[in-house]
Amino acid sequence: MNGKFITIEGGEGVGKSSNIAHIKCVIEKRGIPVIVTREPGGTLIGEKIRTLLIDPENLNLHANTELLLMFAARTQHLEEKIIPHLNKGSWVICDRFTDATYAYQGGGRGLDMHKISILEQWVHANIQPDMTLLLDLDVATGLSRAKKRSAADRFEQENIEFFNKVRNTYLSLAQQHSQRYRIIDASPQMGDVQKSIEHAIEGLF
Ligand code: TMP
Repeated sequence: MNGKFITIEGGEGVGKSSNIAHIKCVIEKRGIPVIVTREPGGTLIGEKIRTLLIDPENLNLHANTELLLMFAARTQHLEEKIIPHLNKGSWVICDRFTDATYAYQGGGRGLDMHKISILEQWVHANIQPDMTLLLDLDVATGLSRAKKRSAADRFEQENIEFFNKVRNTYLSLAQQHSQRYRIIDASPQMGDVQKSIEHAIEGLF
């Protein structure tokens, strides 16, 4: 594959969207083609699956169904969008990827990590992000930011313990995969966070 695959991870309200817009600008300034996409979603079919997943009315959605839907959307996303763009030489910035499944379904919901790794092997055995930026923020601060932004979706209705488990899982993933992970402190002012991100991605160029 010719392009670079960058994933952005973190809990709720950590500032993924505005920082992703900044990363896109930095890459474009170098004259490199780049697309921004997201999970769950990124394709027409994936966005339909996303609607099911985040709808707060779907209270009965079983945790295994949730897990399988994440990977169903991801399969479509990889085949229809991510792989073709990387093959063409475009860089791909993805707002969440499989690490979010380890953090939310594995850490948050307590599903078996081994089952997740079997699905990961099945769906994308040969593809891993070149770099994963983990925007790390105190859970309470993130949740209050997210609440100001919009009505809570099905995930945002979870309690603080759930999100503490999500955060701790992300931090342990960052340790396990220290080669591709960069932890970005998301608590300072936006300009400072942007500088840390610029520094972190410098090695990719
Ligand atoms: P977003 O609002 O950050 O775009 O993501 C929607 C929600 O989906 C977010 O609360 C995290 C959750 N999610 C998972 O639980 N597992 C996954 O694999 C992905 C990609 C997202």
